[in-house]
Amino acid sequence: MTTTKDNLKIAIGSDHGGFAYKQELLQHLQAAHVKDFGTYSADAADYPDFAHPVAAAVESGEFDFGILICGSANGVAITANKHQGIRAAICWQPELAGLARQHNNANVVCIPERFVSLKTAKAIVDHFLAAKFEGGRHANRVNKISC
Ligand code: RB5
Repeated sequence: MTTTKDNLKIAIGSDHGGFAYKQELLQHLQAAHVKDFGTYSADAADYPDFAHPVAAAVESGEFDFGILICGSANGVAITANKHQGIRAAICWQPELAGLARQHNNANVVCIPERFVSLKTAKAIVDHFLAAKFEGGRHANRVNKISC
């Protein structure tokens, strides 16, 4: 399945542990506006160098959603969640990505390249971008997250 999200601005980034899937997801998305924040090779790199710019781009409102990939997804998620306006969710199944949007209003999806197949990674992104925040009782909870 190819996802065309013409109205969405998406920021994507990875370290070397997520580089291969980032390249594949760039092809998969075919979105009107996807910005690649790196890394740009499979050489070893530090995940905060890419997670911070992606998080800042989403936090500023310039981009609707972020996609971050590293080996475990932990490094990029921990980094992105340092930003007040970011709700980054580690997802290893498509259903979790949908729930992250529906219940948590997540704005960044973090994918562990070393633990999911490429097919699953694509499905995670598709579910994340297609799902809508349900608001209501979930909004009350999300509004209590910030410190
Ligand atoms: C890189 O080897 C790996 O540590 C990184 O991609 C990520 O899993 C860190 O959380």
